[in-house]
Amino acid sequence: MLTKTKIQQAEEALQNAKGKMDGRYRLGYHIMAPANWINDPNGLIQYKGEYHVFYQHHPYDENWGPMHWGHVKSKDLVHWEHLPIALAPTETYEKDGCFSGSAVDDNGVLTLIYTGNIFVDREKDIVDQSQCIATSTDGIHFTKETENPVIPKHPEEGSGHFRDPKVWKHEGHWYMVLGTRKEDIGKVVLYKSKDLRQWEYLGVLAESDGTEGYMWECPDFFEIGGKHVLLFSPQGIEEEGEKYQNLFQTGYIVGDFNYETLEFSRGEFKELDYGHDFYAVQTFLDDHGRRIAIGWMDMWESPMPTKEHGWAGALTLPRELFLTPDGNMAMNPVSELKMLREKSIDLSIDKLDSESIDTGVKEDLLEIKVDFSLKDVTADEFGLKLRCNEEGTEETVVGFDVTSSKLFIDREKSGKGVSGVRKSKVELKSDTLSLHLYLDRSSVEVFANDGLNVMTSRIYPQTSSLGLQFYAKNGVVQIEDLNVWKLKDIWKESE
Ligand code: FRU
Repeated sequence: MLTKTKIQQAEEALQNAKGKMDGRYRLGYHIMAPANWINDPNGLIQYKGEYHVFYQHHPYDENWGPMHWGHVKSKDLVHWEHLPIALAPTETYEKDGCFSGSAVDDNGVLTLIYTGNIFVDREKDIVDQSQCIATSTDGIHFTKETENPVIPKHPEEGSGHFRDPKVWKHEGHWYMVLGTRKEDIGKVVLYKSKDLRQWEYLGVLAESDGTEGYMWECPDFFEIGGKHVLLFSPQGIEEEGEKYQNLFQTGYIVGDFNYETLEFSRGEFKELDYGHDFYAVQTFLDDHGRRIAIGWMDMWESPMPTKEHGWAGALTLPRELFLTPDGNMAMNPVSELKMLREKSIDLSIDKLDSESIDTGVKEDLLEIKVDFSLKDVTADEFGLKLRCNEEGTEETVVGFDVTSSKLFIDREKSGKGVSGVRKSKVELKSDTLSLHLYLDRSSVEVFANDGLNVMTSRIYPQTSSLGLQFYAKNGVVQIEDLNVWKLKDIWKESE
């Protein structure tokens, strides 16, 4: 009898789990696993003309466990197709999981660079992590390198928490950034290689000043708009008023990098997304020269009511990143997402003058673009209420507080398990506030102010709460432009 490979076993477990899932919160146009748990996006790449996204995946359970790499691909960043699991932990050096990492196209060979995880003492949080490689020529089946691990041990400046390699090519050499920590200082270290197998340690690229976290996860480093940006997901930044409200953060540092001296002169840490559910973002450069970012659309230890339904976790929409002239990162949904529009919904609302303006729309997959004029605004707060029910006991509010110039998302009545308000200060550049909103069955992504204020949150309303309302408090606000589309369910289309 042939023994099944770990990948075949995992695929069978997934098929089984898929049959048992309850689909009420399943997303319509976001990347999810066929069933069970996912977290970070991994190995984002355009390979042989197609977009590939891998993700941290536990195919046996709706909770995190020994990490595999799940896999989807797309021709257009909109319609995704599930492929077989790419990596399963089979070797001693990765016995407790194939952790996050990246992908490169090495002369036609799709090469995954990932972290092999070993728990030394899980209770005491002692791990032994190393960097490994797996290759494929068909973009589907991967072979682990016999030389693994290619970086067996962390540098002196780090510790066993040594993970999430992001690799890129610069002038004929490969470079890698990795997240690590020494005692309670999170940091990112830098390596260089000619062949992806032999790596030279170059030193610490950046580290916490003592207030920026005890561990830096999932780094990414790239040039954009003439600057270098270090993106990473720090653990352990203290809450500061309305800032750093989530358990862990995801943000960036803008600076200048010199490949000769290896010096990164850096600015301050800033958050990239102000919603409840955004973590471990990664980016890649596509053949249009766009820097595209995808994050995990959840947060560690957050309520995930879908676990009861046999799955947990999803990835955000692909977003194009920009650096503004004053050194901030902005992100907007990629333009291909227009393909999701199934039908335009006509709404003739040109001003908001009451606390509840029902649009009559009853949908769970929507794109909304709305421009509010702040010229003669008298309301002190206005916005939208998504996924409302008739009794008013369920709604997710996306609003703007005029006096403080803050955009907010309020999940106090968003349904099962979730609560809390997140706010983001809007530095308006004109007297129009533009909101671009994507609503999926259990998520909301809000892009405001040309992508400078982005908020991503999961919501879990009842299936019957489908209403869409507008509101203004204590006055009036004019609407300059309003467009609403019902969106397609790409997963149902492909069934
Ligand atoms: C980030 C992270 C990574 C790690 C992975 C494990 O969310 O903790 O640092 O590689 O998840 O699943």
